[in-house]
Amino acid sequence: MPARHRPRRSVLYMPGSKARALEKARSLPADSLILDLEDAVAPSEKAAARELVKAAVLEGGFGEREVVIRINGLDTPWGAADLVAACAAGPDAILIPKVESREMIEEADARMTYHQAPVDTAIWAMVETPMGVLRAAEIATGPRMACFVMGTNDLVKELRAAHTPDRLNLAASLGWCLLAARAHGLACIDGVYNAFRDAEGTRAACAQGRDYGFDGKTLIHPDQIAIANDVFAPSPDDVALAERMISAFAEAQARGEGVAVVDGRIVENLHVESARRVIAEAQAIARLEAEAA
Ligand code: COA
Ligand code: MG
Repeated sequence: MPARHRPRRSVLYMPGSKARALEKARSLPADSLILDLEDAVAPSEKAAARELVKAAVLEGGFGEREVVIRINGLDTPWGAADLVAACAAGPDAILIPKVESREMIEEADARMTYHQAPVDTAIWAMVETPMGVLRAAEIATGPRMACFVMGTNDLVKELRAAHTPDRLNLAASLGWCLLAARAHGLACIDGVYNAFRDAEGTRAACAQGRDYGFDGKTLIHPDQIAIANDVFAPSPDDVALAERMISAFAEAQARGEGVAVVDGRIVENLHVESARRVIAEAQAIARLEAEAA
């Protein structure tokens, strides 16, 4: 059963240069944190942010939250030193921006091994350029690869598209990356919603991402966390329906039948698998929240 063992409903970016945000993150209810050294940090602050992030991760105190460091690209003046610092910090994952080939993942993996990153530090890849999208299936097979993060702001820019609520102009890219992620067993996180003070807009954007199949949404502000946690979690109604589907199917099987009917809808084996996944997700979230409490 392809259960998601680790909820990633809310994945919050924070500027690695802001000590206040890094401190605050230790008590925010986000499932995952991305400590950013790339676009949220000005060039003049890159070196200080690198040290701040390394010290924060080494100090710990993030509890059950998954901790990810986003480095600058290895083709920039800062990327190599960022990676060395991230290896010493040993986060759950290192997020590489603008990945466009499997070779870029191999290069990061080789450097991580050389700099003695923990073996269980994963690589996450930002997919945010046309070439990155087109090569998502080969990138997904790279060493240590665990997760795609959609960089929808960069992607909109590169496509010369516009930000529209329905995101039909991104459907091909988002769908292609999800296909690649699921085909290779990776997690896949949706891009950010820029109008972070708009709660209704954030909720609609999260619901759209959930319906695509994303595990969760990247966020830019703490106010968005509770919304993403709610939208990407199975609701009590979802769980109750899943339980009814499982028992109705078991009863049908006991009668020697291969299908059941619940609420006027057919329930086959594949629906039961989805129902089991819903329950596994709800349990994983309950476990995470109990441990965080
Ligand atoms: N992570 C952690 N804490 C954050 C945060 C974040 N992303 N964004 C805001 N906060 C904190 C602030 O430090 C402040 O804490 P305090 O009141 O306890 O001191 C509190 O949340 C309220 O912040 P607020 O005043 O509403 O926001 P702001 O105007 O200071 O900042 C942004 C707005 C957009 C600049 C800020 O949210 C931010 O930098 N977001 C992340 C941007 C980023 O990482 N981009 C890269 C990827 S797209
Ligand atoms: Mg980007």
